[in-house]
Amino acid sequence: MPLPPDNSDDARVQRDGSAPDDAGPRLSRRAFIKSAGAAAAVAGLLGVKSPPAPPAAAPAANPPLAGAAERLGPGAETFTLRVNGASRVVTAEPRVTLLGALRDHLGLTGTKLVCDRGACGACTVHLDGAPVTACMILAIDARGHEITTIEGLGAPDRLDAVQRAFVAADALQCGFCTPGMAMAVSAAIRLNPDPSPDEIKRAVAGNICRCGTYPHVLRAALAAAQASRGRG
Ligand code: FES
Ligand code: FES
Repeated sequence: MPLPPDNSDDARVQRDGSAPDDAGPRLSRRAFIKSAGAAAAVAGLLGVKSPPAPPAAAPAANPPLAGAAERLGPGAETFTLRVNGASRVVTAEPRVTLLGALRDHLGLTGTKLVCDRGACGACTVHLDGAPVTACMILAIDARGHEITTIEGLGAPDRLDAVQRAFVAADALQCGFCTPGMAMAVSAAIRLNPDPSPDEIKRAVAGNICRCGTYPHVLRAALAAAQASRGRG
């Protein structure tokens, strides 16, 4: 019995050796599938393994990033501050300001709390020699820095040049601004041992005195600078 005509691409290729459009021999879709299946079977018989699938992306391992933020709090942290040349251990919540740590944790009440918002200069201390308002710095951010307070300039029995000059010039009334003033003057004189009156005024421009002792503060600052230069 004659077989029905095979009109598939394979049959036509096999029958006349050319593609229907006479564009030359080509591999039909069916022939390709057949040959691919055969190749897979041979590969299986020979034990050839398919290339392994690329490994699934590993979950992020949370590697520490350089400069990543330190995780602190909200509870108290114990850390060390360098204050007036000594290492002092403080246990305080990270929200505590340097002013709070100095006064409430270390008992250094010479640094005054007045505005608590960086506007009056009463809380001025030195951080690595530079004047800063301690109410605007977190204590924990002062780690690794040298902090100097008014107690670090000199004690009552051994006042430094600035403290002596303030006493001699009567540069205070209520005294609340005085430690901050003295710290600002001290930093200015260290930076410039021979300041002009205008330079002194600029140095204490951020220190507010409600009692109006500015002329006496200026006189004290110039005298302290002169004494520090060894001409007093
Ligand atoms: S208390 Fe810090 S600036 Fe006034
Ligand atoms: S001496 Fe009173 S605020 Fe300055």
